[in-house]
Amino acid sequence: MKHHVISFANQKGGVGKTTTCINLAGALSHKGKSVLLVDMDYQSNLTLGVGVDPEVIEKGMGEVLLFRDTSFRDIILKSSIPDADIAPGTMSLSKVDINIASRRDRHRILHDKLIEVKDKYDYVFIDCPPAFNLLTINALSASDGVLIPVQCYPYSLSGLNTLLEIIEDIRYAYNFDLEIAGIIPTSYDTNTKLSSEVVDELYRRYGGKVYDTVIKKSVKVAEAPVHRKPIVDYAPWHPVAKAYMELADEFLKREGE
Ligand SMILES: Nc1ncnc2c1ncn2[C@@H]1O[C@H](COP(=O)(O)OP(=O)(O)O)[C@@H](O)[C@H]1O
Ligand SMILES: [Mg+2]
Repeated sequence: MKHHVISFANQKGGVGKTTTCINLAGALSHKGKSVLLVDMDYQSNLTLGVGVDPEVIEKGMGEVLLFRDTSFRDIILKSSIPDADIAPGTMSLSKVDINIASRRDRHRILHDKLIEVKDKYDYVFIDCPPAFNLLTINALSASDGVLIPVQCYPYSLSGLNTLLEIIEDIRYAYNFDLEIAGIIPTSYDTNTKLSSEVVDELYRRYGGKVYDTVIKKSVKVAEAPVHRKPIVDYAPWHPVAKAYMELADEFLKREGE
């Protein structure tokens, strides 16, 4: 495998970071791969999406980042995905930025703490918040790959060059191992020409970095919060579930497996 720790990043909110993270992990589980899911967003959609209620958790990623004596082993829980564990997000993540700002190791707290657990899993997926803050910097400093979901809507490409520039900056400042693992087109709308124009433009600009598998827009995906598990488990017959299985195949191929 080329990348072991992979961040799902895009400073825009609502572009499919969390959805792609859950469903790719779910599809990979069907292919015998184990994944540690790390929720870095205080909104905790990843945590909820794999069946864990952040309200009833005492310690989560916030505590791992805030307290020197809290480790991943203290917080990891089983998720609703058979071969995936979750390092849950909680509200305390919203306090991390301000509290670690003056620490000298502020950009690599996650990197350092992940060392003791990451080798237990085939992949570690880190779901980033929709912002360029210390949480995202920690995620990217701990990763060797970044997957960037992009919605196939007009204007989705604005900001993408800035994201790639920031990834490059982090690469030079903190983490020379960091690579773009891929750009994944999501929420493709077959009813309008605009989606295909966005995908064409993505291929034109970023070529081979863009996944061939495109995830279509579907209400079945939006239903996920009710089910609290990946679509490949609650509606395996649905075309979008099949698309996520294809995404997992392409992911494994790109990762050299
Ligand atoms: N392929 C899709 N079709 C329809 N809705 C989608 C699709 N992918 C994501 N969504 C919905 O879009 C919203 C934002 O997705 P999410 O993964 O939470 O974005 P982010 O993590 O980037 O903020 C969610 O309500 C989700 O259910
Ligand atoms: Mg999210």
